[in-house]
Amino acid sequence: MAYIVVKESKPLRGTVRISGSKNAVLPIIAATLLVDGVSVIKSVPDLRDVSVMSDLLRYLGAKVEYDGETLIVDAREIKDTEAPYNLVNKMRASFLVMGSLLSRFNTAKISMPGGCAIGTRPIDLHLKGFRAMGAEIVSDHGYVEAHAEKLSGSKIYLDFPSVGATENIMMAAVRAEGITTIENAAEEPEIVDLANFLNKMGAKVRGAGTNTIKITGVEKLEAVEHTVIPDRIEAGTYMVAAAMTKGDVFVDNVIIDHIKPVVAKLIEVGCTVEEHENGVRVIGTDKIMPTNIKTLPHPGFPTDMQSQFMAMLCMAEGKSTITETVFENRFMNVPELIRMGANIEINGKSAIVEGRDKLTGSEVMATDLRAGAALVISGLVAEGETIVKNIYHIERGYVDLVGKLSRLGAEICKVEESV
Ligand code: UD1
Repeated sequence: MAYIVVKESKPLRGTVRISGSKNAVLPIIAATLLVDGVSVIKSVPDLRDVSVMSDLLRYLGAKVEYDGETLIVDAREIKDTEAPYNLVNKMRASFLVMGSLLSRFNTAKISMPGGCAIGTRPIDLHLKGFRAMGAEIVSDHGYVEAHAEKLSGSKIYLDFPSVGATENIMMAAVRAEGITTIENAAEEPEIVDLANFLNKMGAKVRGAGTNTIKITGVEKLEAVEHTVIPDRIEAGTYMVAAAMTKGDVFVDNVIIDHIKPVVAKLIEVGCTVEEHENGVRVIGTDKIMPTNIKTLPHPGFPTDMQSQFMAMLCMAEGKSTITETVFENRFMNVPELIRMGANIEINGKSAIVEGRDKLTGSEVMATDLRAGAALVISGLVAEGETIVKNIYHIERGYVDLVGKLSRLGAEICKVEESV
């Protein structure tokens, strides 16, 4: 199993280019199943999650080609509408093929999803949407089966603005008869990117990016070309790494509007953040000030940036409180940070972080994707050497984290351990 070795490093300096968004591209790949044609997706990040989604589409009968940047999906000959356990259990987002399969073939059978162990992560809201559109749903033996003679538009209120449920329902609704309204919809930028892709295909999706999305069903969609938005979480991770190491980093290929909470919190802790047309420059501060963070659906502070900020606040001059409201189990990396000398106490949904001067290098384990990245950047400011294990989590969502950090001056390498 491979692992990452990080040594205490000098302040990070230079420019890092952000890749296309993982969370935007996964639903877009699922949406290519909607059309009897060849879709071309550009700026696709070279990630394990992308290859898992591509494998799933291949299993269903699509031809998928990828050159590290452009992904071409030929979905003209879909042979199967059943997604098996061995593919779906690798990644929760696989469940997103249900909406598009149901829309195009009126039937889908998908294994219950896996993914990061950051909470129970049910799919009840996805199913509530499909049912409201007239689908009959049966859950049995770890599979969810949905059938509909014809999906019809409906008004769907989401009890929580779930990103995945909003996306899945949007995909199911594009060809349904009449109008589907999603209320309390997720407002994340990735929802807007999916809506833009669907609209290019000929769909009528209005209101994406607000909490009410209206989808008017259309008869026909056609295959198109689309460029994915930059990854706001990857950007935020490098911004925090710059701040933690008291560095000076230009984070290139960022849509500023997407990272407002990250910018605001970095300014609160004392960093200088310059906004440029295509990116942000983050200049660290000698004294990181404490702050309080509460994760919320967009446009609130993203749960996917929580672990990285926690790592940084371990070095702040005082006490910070981090409250996690989106996932119930997202403090799993706390014991790992404590192994590195952090002073953190968990109290229900909150973590109280008492900053200290130094962390110490140790052997730690990535418990999920973002927590793994947080441990790597903690290693940059920990005395000695940090070894991060279970890095397959990190490789699900960061393109060349080791290479990008080392080009900024980090002392970091990946070691392939022979078994
Ligand atoms: C997506 C992102 C993930 C991010 C999360 C929240 C992708 C591929 N992943 O995950 O990186 O951390 O949004 O911003 O885009 N819930 C239900 N019932 C459901 C669905 C969700 O109760 O049917 C709950 C979940 O348990 C969780 C909350 O809603 O507590 C948010 O989940 P959701 O927004 O659906 O996250 P994902 O789409 O899985």
